[in-house]
Amino acid sequence: MTLEEAIIARHSVRDYQNRPVEAEKLSAIQKLIDTINQETGLNIQMVINNPVAFASGIVTYGKFHGVNNYLAMVGPKGRKSDESIGYYGEQIVLMMQTLGLNSCWVGQTFKNDKSAYQRTDKEELKCVIAFGYGATQGIQHPQKKTITDVAINKTNKPFPEWFERGINAALLAPTAVNQHKYEFVLHEENRVEAKTKFSWIGYTHIDLGIVKCHFELAAGKENFKW
Ligand SMILES: Cc1cc2nc3c(=O)[nH]c(=O)nc-3n(C[C@H](O)[C@H](O)[C@H](O)COP(=O)(O)O)c2cc1C
Repeated sequence: MTLEEAIIARHSVRDYQNRPVEAEKLSAIQKLIDTINQETGLNIQMVINNPVAFASGIVTYGKFHGVNNYLAMVGPKGRKSDESIGYYGEQIVLMMQTLGLNSCWVGQTFKNDKSAYQRTDKEELKCVIAFGYGATQGIQHPQKKTITDVAINKTNKPFPEWFERGINAALLAPTAVNQHKYEFVLHEENRVEAKTKFSWIGYTHIDLGIVKCHFELAAGKENFKW
């Protein structure tokens, strides 16, 4: 499965099988995390075989069942690093999908188990990404928005094909409560600007990083400049 196929196959999965992820797959994920952490200054950590954050039994968080693994998405405090958390986190999500794993970004419905990951005084946990072998593959989220809702054309030509491909991939991306509060503006000379829109829910900068990751993969980096 390619990363572009993973964009189509991926859906949030909240119910997991009691099946450990193989050591080779964990080490491939860890390798990608190490590269990202070195390049970006993020401090993403893998938490394995630890159900506390999604404790099953009497207390359950959201609609989650059987979550034993997650990524602790730790980064520098403040909103500045949120877009990177989204952009690089989604690269890991798509890579996990190509390995036959499922995942779900989680900002709210989990317990922040501070003993499970490390952070300095200058860092915070932004959110987590549950992962493992899903009991199902999830379902396609309702697509309430179309290209005209999220894209603006500031050129005097129609949207090029690569731009439409990028927007369609952005519309398939996970966003908090499926809000899709962002806008892609196409300028002359194939320059693309991506911005957040206001949301009472928040998470718009993490969402923006996620949709930029999808856009870039589908549109092709060679076709445009941010
Ligand atoms: C930043 C972020 C935070 C999220 N937080 C939660 C959450 O707290 N609980 C939950 O069940 N899903 C959460 N989600 C998953 C979204 O609800 C889901 O991505 C969206 O409904 C679209 O569905 P899809 O991922 O299947 O395409 C979150 C997604 C993102 C990107």
